[in-house]
Amino acid sequence: MTYDGKVGTVKIHVAAHPLITHKVTILRDEKTPSSIFRELIGEIVTLLAYEATRDVKTVPVTVKTPVAMAQGAVMAKPDAVVIPILRAGLGMLEGMVRLMPSVQVGFLGMVRDEKTLQASTYANRLPQDLHGRECFILDPMLATGGTLIAAIHYLVDLGATDITAICILSSPEGIAAIEKEFQNSNTNLTLVTAALDEKLNEKGYIVPGLGDAGDRLYGVV
Ligand code: URA
Repeated sequence: MTYDGKVGTVKIHVAAHPLITHKVTILRDEKTPSSIFRELIGEIVTLLAYEATRDVKTVPVTVKTPVAMAQGAVMAKPDAVVIPILRAGLGMLEGMVRLMPSVQVGFLGMVRDEKTLQASTYANRLPQDLHGRECFILDPMLATGGTLIAAIHYLVDLGATDITAICILSSPEGIAAIEKEFQNSNTNLTLVTAALDEKLNEKGYIVPGLGDAGDRLYGVV
């Protein structure tokens, strides 16, 4: 299933590209070892980041080439903020900063209770004022949407008005939950995802999904 459009106030972009599909397919395979899994996550995030940064603000500049003056544009200040959601979002950070080396990085530690599927924050290290900052949340799995909803509220409370979530896989239930939660919000919200899967199972896992992203990145702890 592919979808590209605006649901309520949330812009959804499913990055349908053969390279991304190829990499996601290997990622899903339970036989793919952690080392390859980590590499693929990085590569997919870099490709998704290319889509996710399509509308970042730039300012015009003029540079002198060896031949003539050239009109161009560079990224505007203040720098964007990238927020990986610990633990699994950390595996996406390198792929993002590879494309945008000047970003500031903030961290949000969130855990979901496997019984209630409710998300709670256990750690944070973020700029305390996000007014005027473009924010990119990194979380590989948009499942129930609970973690992403909590993270978005956290950033909005710090003044963010422009938030893009980059997720490797998303569920229809997760997207519906985000849409419902933020339907009357003034926040400019975008989701960029590599694939929209079929559904959630009774344990809150994405089907067909790829299993537990954190465990596959870092092992079961
Ligand atoms: N978190 C994961 O790591 N995997 C899922 O399928 C859902 C939530």
